[in-house]
Amino acid sequence: MLTLKRPDDFHLHLRDGAALDSIVHYSARRFARAIIMPNLTPPVTRVSDALAYRERILAALGGDSFEPLMTLYLTDNTPADEIRAAAAHEHVHAVKYYPAGATTHSENGVMRLEHVYPLLEIMAETGLPLLVHGEVTDPAVDVFDREAVFIEQVLEPLRERLPELRLVLEHITTEQGVEYVKSCPRNQAATITPQHCLLNRNALFRDGMRPHHFCLPVLKAESHRQAVLNAAVSGDERFFLGTDSAPHARGRKECAHACAGIFSAPVALEVYAEIFEHCGALDKLQGFASEHGARFYGLPENTESITLKKAAWTVPDSLPYGDGEIIPFRAGEELTWTLTD
Ligand code: DOR
Ligand code: ZN
Repeated sequence: MLTLKRPDDFHLHLRDGAALDSIVHYSARRFARAIIMPNLTPPVTRVSDALAYRERILAALGGDSFEPLMTLYLTDNTPADEIRAAAAHEHVHAVKYYPAGATTHSENGVMRLEHVYPLLEIMAETGLPLLVHGEVTDPAVDVFDREAVFIEQVLEPLRERLPELRLVLEHITTEQGVEYVKSCPRNQAATITPQHCLLNRNALFRDGMRPHHFCLPVLKAESHRQAVLNAAVSGDERFFLGTDSAPHARGRKECAHACAGIFSAPVALEVYAEIFEHCGALDKLQGFASEHGARFYGLPENTESITLKKAAWTVPDSLPYGDGEIIPFRAGEELTWTLTD
């Protein structure tokens, strides 16, 4: 048996409408709270949008206990007053920076970071964290190098200019990402997904193309996977759990131009437990899953607990999603940890 303080997911895509209704309970079953990504269409750019989205999430929960921690989607046109209002609002916890064109629904993102420096200054003053999708979008840069180039070209100059800005480098995938965060004081941190701990880029091509292993930032070479895994299990409080569970209907994945995103919510906690156990680091799981992130965000630790037992179960081949279906991470595979009630 493994009992943990109830964990939180510091990077989650919940979508909206019928999709939201079909998936939110997988997260609520495992996690007490989650940082909710704002990349809807249209994106969540205003505090009022975030509050309305929060109400839709609460309605979809139908009474299940789960706290959505809302974020705003940063654009070149975000007004300074909106950032001040976000910083002051109890339900808004961060602002997400998508470089325009970097990933799913990022076309309204920031064209050049310099455009929003005045907004970042307000965030640095008020302590509102910036959540960063850390990839350059220059098509001339190799897709596997985009995180490392982003760190050098964007993050390092940003840290020089605004050292006090609180920042989370989301879903790190490279040794450079790990080293960058380790070189920062405690006001910078990173989330780590289950897939970037578990899989290297060979997983995209094993026995044919695997669209359900395609996410952004894309899986990297084995040496990078090992660096990310070591950071996750290290006990360093700058690294914490963020699944980046990002659902797309089966037909949007199994097609030409497959969408990026891995739907891990139905298995995430169980998979992290397997990963930490495999590394002989189960004693570090509670810090990673339930303590480090809450501390970074200045949230109280959860008082309830969750228990997993060592019992095998097979992940379903597919799950209902709106009026269609979705393929979860590890579909059809056996997992060794099971949630207890
Ligand atoms: O793989 C991804 N999917 N990466 C992202 O940054 C966005 C996400 C999504 O929203 O589907
Ligand atoms: Zn994401």
